[in-house]
Amino acid sequence: MKPPTLFTKRLVLRRWTDCDRTVLARITADPEVMRFRLRTLSRQESDELIDTTERCFDERGFGMWAAERAADGRLIGYIGLEEAGDDMPFRPLVHIGWHLVADVWGHGYATEGAAAVLDYAFEELGLAEVVAHTTARNHRSEGVMRRLGMTHNPRDDFDAPWYPLGHPNRRFVLYRLKKAQWRA
Ligand SMILES: CC(C)(COP(=O)(O)OP(=O)(O)OC[C@H]1O[C@@H](n2cnc3c(N)ncnc32)[C@H](O)[C@@H]1OP(=O)(O)O)[C@@H](O)C(=O)NCCC(=O)NCCS
Repeated sequence: MKPPTLFTKRLVLRRWTDCDRTVLARITADPEVMRFRLRTLSRQESDELIDTTERCFDERGFGMWAAERAADGRLIGYIGLEEAGDDMPFRPLVHIGWHLVADVWGHGYATEGAAAVLDYAFEELGLAEVVAHTTARNHRSEGVMRRLGMTHNPRDDFDAPWYPLGHPNRRFVLYRLKKAQWRA
């Protein structure tokens, strides 16, 4: 399956090009953007993120789409789907995520792009359910989950094994969305 470019009112969600590498590296090196991640990324790690997601597009038909603002062609981050390793404490493993440059927060771009990704996940990939997770301190990310109509059961919350014991970001919330809920 060839993953399509997804269009929304204000965004183009597309595959990555080499020209995106410098811009993404700047975004993933910004401590504000990465505040709720384990740490900022090096240039090499940021490049690997593109390489990994491009491989996933080829092999699985999904990945983190490069999010370009239609009005000016600016790369503002990424929005898409990822599959967690099966040692992770949640099911299903395919989860949706978003990551945008800080000066575009507060405009609804993450929710808008994620809605197109969910359409694709349910209608084209045929997934029955998609989850999303973030550290319980990341209220902006949780806000996107709520705006998408995802639901939260505290029994699903978990300690993220990729954070060391005692780290303030270790407690994660998990949100769910079933295909039938999305259609409704
Ligand atoms: C998480 C993240 C993507 C959320 O971005 P965001 O801009 O807050 O989310 P949305 O795109 O849904 O925008 C919602 C905000 O835009 C406002 N908004 C303005 N115009 C809007 C529109 N046309 N449609 C919807 N919302 C709109 C909403 O009122 C809301 O404002 P608020 O922040 O004052 O409540 C962003 O904070 C981010 O990239 N953080 C760093 C990376 C990260 O932590 N990623 C998640 C890891 S799990």
